[in-house]
Amino acid sequence: MPGQTTATGTMRVFPTREALITGLADWLLARSLAKAPHTPFRLALSGGSTPQHLYARMASAPYVERFPWHNMQFFIGDDRFVPHDHADSNFGMMQRLLFSKAPIPASNIFPMPDHGTAEEAARTYEHTLKTLYGAPEFMPERPFFDVQFLGIGTDGHTASLFPGQPVLHNHTAWVASCVPPAAPHTRLTLTYPAIHASQHVVFLVEGAAKRDILARIRAQDPNCPASAITAQGDLTWFTDQAAAPLVQHEQG
Ligand code: 6PG
Repeated sequence: MPGQTTATGTMRVFPTREALITGLADWLLARSLAKAPHTPFRLALSGGSTPQHLYARMASAPYVERFPWHNMQFFIGDDRFVPHDHADSNFGMMQRLLFSKAPIPASNIFPMPDHGTAEEAARTYEHTLKTLYGAPEFMPERPFFDVQFLGIGTDGHTASLFPGQPVLHNHTAWVASCVPPAAPHTRLTLTYPAIHASQHVVFLVEGAAKRDILARIRAQDPNCPASAITAQGDLTWFTDQAAAPLVQHEQG
């Protein structure tokens, strides 16, 4: 159903982390193989710790032999504005777990810049996206990303859209810089309109620590920036039983 929100999105609840990661890897593989040949399958990857299990799974058998890597383009949903080899770099994490382990053409990987000023880096990344998209504005019938992966923090942030930040009110830029007081480093992040320009928005949420904030976001708590995330296409919550105990879990 197009135009789903964090409230109307589908909940897929798996009994364990292992089942969750397998279910999401299988879902992603099916989507990537279903994409018409010669049209790139574009993913925006999220940072933090939860998705690391997914990236490692994608880079391992049997998935590493089955994904159409040559046809997949990888973007970064948000990053800390630090050198790519910094321990806190999301791109550095993705490079270690996935990009260095799977046969992905280097030209298919689009890191956020890690040099100059944060604002210059945001403008450069936005220009890259607009050049690939082929237009200066998003068109309602043509999303940019096939899949947008997101996590949530216990303060209700997603990507680097943190509570109280000016970027939450920026509905014209595709990429912005921000300095969240309660999180490490200056950040670069896709904005709400850029995240919306996705055929599939997927939240990956795992563990009991996320139970309360997940419920608040699904109830559209306006104090949680993640509440306002929407998809041009569909939105799906991939969670485990610990994070979504009151929802009947996925049968397999
Ligand atoms: C980041 C992420 C951030 C992350 C959430 C959840 O740069 O930290 O993009 O938005 O998705 O903080 O992180 P965990 O999966 O580690 O809980």
